[in-house]
Amino acid sequence: MEKKYLILFVVMLFVSGFKFSDVNKSKNEDLEKNIDKILSSMTIEEKVGQMTQVTLEVVSKERKSESDELVLDIGKLKDAILKYKVGSILNTGGAANSIESWHNIITTIQDIALKESRLKIPVLYGIDAIHGANFTIGATLFPQAIAMSATRNKDIVFKGGEITAFETRASGIPWNFNPVLGMGREPLWPRLWETYGEDVYLTTEMGRAYVKGQQGNDIGAKDKVATCIKHYLGYSVPKNGNDRTPAWIPERMMREIFLPSFQAGVEEGSMTVMVNSSEINGIPVHADHYLLTELLKDELNFKGFIVSDWEDIKRLHTRDRVAETPEQAVKMAVMAGLDMSMVPYDYSFYEILLKLVDDGEVPVSRIDDAVRRILRVKLMVGLFENPYPNKELVQKFACNEFTQANLDAAREAITLLKNNSKLPLKKNSKVLVTGPTSNLMRVLNGGWTFNWQGDNESLYPAEKFTILEAVQNKIGKDNVLFYEGVDFSGDVNSSAAVDAASSVDAVILCLGESNYSESPGNITDLALDVRQIEYAKKLYKTGIPVILVLIEGRPRVINPIVEDASAIVMGYLPGMEGGIAISDVLFGDVNPSGKLPFTYPKFVNGNTTYDYKPIEFFDVNKYDPQFPFGFGLSYTSFSYSDLKLEKTEIEQNENLKISVKVTNSGSVDGKEAVELYLTDIYGSVTRPNKQLKRFEKIELKTGESKVVEFSLNTHDLSFIGRDNKRITEAGEFIVSVSDLKKNFFLK
Ligand code: BGC
Repeated sequence: MEKKYLILFVVMLFVSGFKFSDVNKSKNEDLEKNIDKILSSMTIEEKVGQMTQVTLEVVSKERKSESDELVLDIGKLKDAILKYKVGSILNTGGAANSIESWHNIITTIQDIALKESRLKIPVLYGIDAIHGANFTIGATLFPQAIAMSATRNKDIVFKGGEITAFETRASGIPWNFNPVLGMGREPLWPRLWETYGEDVYLTTEMGRAYVKGQQGNDIGAKDKVATCIKHYLGYSVPKNGNDRTPAWIPERMMREIFLPSFQAGVEEGSMTVMVNSSEINGIPVHADHYLLTELLKDELNFKGFIVSDWEDIKRLHTRDRVAETPEQAVKMAVMAGLDMSMVPYDYSFYEILLKLVDDGEVPVSRIDDAVRRILRVKLMVGLFENPYPNKELVQKFACNEFTQANLDAAREAITLLKNNSKLPLKKNSKVLVTGPTSNLMRVLNGGWTFNWQGDNESLYPAEKFTILEAVQNKIGKDNVLFYEGVDFSGDVNSSAAVDAASSVDAVILCLGESNYSESPGNITDLALDVRQIEYAKKLYKTGIPVILVLIEGRPRVINPIVEDASAIVMGYLPGMEGGIAISDVLFGDVNPSGKLPFTYPKFVNGNTTYDYKPIEFFDVNKYDPQFPFGFGLSYTSFSYSDLKLEKTEIEQNENLKISVKVTNSGSVDGKEAVELYLTDIYGSVTRPNKQLKRFEKIELKTGESKVVEFSLNTHDLSFIGRDNKRITEAGEFIVSVSDLKKNFFLK
């Protein structure tokens, strides 16, 4: 339709009293009617089957090696779909599959569901596509979430979500167990890098951008997937730092710090939620009626379904011992509000739940509610119209445009933490590249890459570049010496490396962590491996400038080697294009613009977040990190001026406009994340030192200025009061942007 006719058409609709909300309303009514129809024709076995999810291994033949193609076991698959009537299958069967193999798998599954089952309800396939479609060979694999957050660029996170959705759906899979919206406030925790970092607002905004990118305006479109916000709630702050261990979170803190990102995910329309495997305040979350039903479903009005995490219903009995029998465990979880069980290795959940319903232990109304929610998601995601892989999408899979978006993301994530004017390096320099993370693809990508731990280097594409290879490409092989020096288990050739160092202009020392995800990544010491620390010290002794490059999923303490480093570049887990991005930053083709999404501790026990309370910076207490939250240097300098508040006093429910001028006062073009913080000076509950409330990434040519505008609303000034309800209190606030500060009053 031509634009003018379109405008005319819209005007006519409004004149006739039509409202767009009517369309949504009638769409919703149709959807619910559709669900009623399906639900009313289902047997109890079919209903309980919908609530059951098994892993792909259960229905496939055993793989001899990770690179073998996955072969389905048709007999077992028929058992799953026809006998046990499962509603969902998950995972990758050990390792990544080719896109063709995924198409065969999904097509075979749907063929049985649609051609041989009584009601022809398609199976909802789910996968962890956490930094791209990481279980499809050849996919575009982005920096992990922690690095995406360092970009402070919502467009990049949106795009990452959008491309991941596209490639996941191109693989035939419509459901993604991501994003992780827990708050990364415990640096020991091995899943820190799956989060967007320590800050509530940053996580909330990045989470919104990701969900929007994945689901688009129409979650039912052929290239979108349903998101699964996880792990609800409080999983990210285990008291002892180990994965899947208890957290203690008082109600006020839970509502202030942990709930907002999930609330935002629900508001953005995420239709599934995965539960925290562990416990809060002594109650396993899988058995917590308050958190699952009262808070999530009733208070936040969540209309989608809640899926358990891996085997976690069974663990209420076998591990947590809150249920005396497996039967009690199932009853507890389902009655707490759980809708789908990731069983995932057998059909015990199905059998037990059927019996519980039969015995009147679980009412059919609860089953109907769960199945209604599951069907709602299946219908909304377009599974009934589009159950099969869409072959057209394959053409754009891992195309150049996606690779470029990935490279842009990695470039904006890299965070320059120190620079004694040694960076950028000249392209005619001679360098030594060394260290355990210098020549591996797997360390750039981290866990959940091609297999669970991401640790099989042979599965990684030969055509992508490690840091060493990218540096060689940049300045020519002849100018690059390489000795690994040390690896993750000890010395390789450190003496030869140290000897070689004296013949180069600079050493690029790549340190960090090997691959891990979940519990295998537990550590008891946040300090970087002592062998790496000692190796760095030996290299410093040569007197040749050493540039430290950190490839790690959490901030391992590097205090002993900070002072003598000529520069420090934080790479996080920068993904498939990370090698190129790092070498671009090292040699000045990219001006770094990442900002830390967490506080980088100076000491292993020095874990204080930037939004600390007054008492944490009182008397002898200090916020004394190695590098603070929000820190990140550039090759240029940005000067801030003219911080203006539209008013110095506002009413309740009034917005406050704020502007600030930012100038690139240095000699290279660059990007800058402008961050606005708020401090509430006095409150009836102790108020944080400051809180991030807005951020925007801008680009400025040298000499260029821009005025950045923000608007704060009353919600931004609110907090959880003594009665655990959200309140605002009249009083004085400080707005700070860079070093500028201005005060205002809320009446
Ligand atoms: C993890 C989840 C993941 C699930 C399915 C669990 O072990 O905790 O984050 O989505 O496995 O792979």
